[in-house]
Amino acid sequence: MLVAPSILSADFGRLNEEVMAICDGGADLIHVDVMDGHFVPNLTIGPLVVSSVAKVATKPLDIHLMVENNSFFVDIFAPLKPKYISFHIEEEKHPLRLIQKIRSLGISPAIVLNPHTPPEAIEFLLEDIDMVLLMSVNPGFGGQKFIASVVEKTKRLKKMIEAQNPSCLIEVDGGVGIKNIEILKEAGVDVVVAGSYVFGHIEGYKYAIESLKV
Ligand code: DX5
Ligand code: ZN
Repeated sequence: MLVAPSILSADFGRLNEEVMAICDGGADLIHVDVMDGHFVPNLTIGPLVVSSVAKVATKPLDIHLMVENNSFFVDIFAPLKPKYISFHIEEEKHPLRLIQKIRSLGISPAIVLNPHTPPEAIEFLLEDIDMVLLMSVNPGFGGQKFIASVVEKTKRLKKMIEAQNPSCLIEVDGGVGIKNIEILKEAGVDVVVAGSYVFGHIEGYKYAIESLKV
């Protein structure tokens, strides 16, 4: 299991130190939640802050857009050379065009599905992307309760991926921790995002990240 700590739960007053600590603690990706106050009822960070994260990060960035104007945000984050940029299918009229644009910038395209969105919504896009991000909470905030229906959704998606694009990864985001990591692994999840579990762990980030590498 790959682990992508979400910096949404980090101490923003010491953000560089926090990023270095999760990189040293074994993070595989640094998950960056970009919220615009329109697609979700919360506002987070833009390219200025993320460029400071990118400077100290020794692991690749995984940028999760929760915004209305995806193409605009792809343009402003692309110069930071993230490994992944993911966008919500619910907010994109021309997903294939956006996927092609992300790939042309040298970035791996990924699509996010909200808790209610079935995997069939991206059936005809699976061959074109490198990762699917399944939300296991309503997007917008860290520290929410895990929505268990994502387990069934992962199993369905896994079958589709095996038939169409076996190298495409499945990532799950929201409410992930020690209580559900095994069931996510069994369902076929490749990458977990974890915010409050990692940054709130009393035994430290390294211990928390390792506990998710099942
Ligand atoms: C929610 C974000 C998540 C969030 C996860 O919209 O996409 O990445 O940081 O936080 P936890 O792990 O605390 O649920
Ligand atoms: Zn996220």
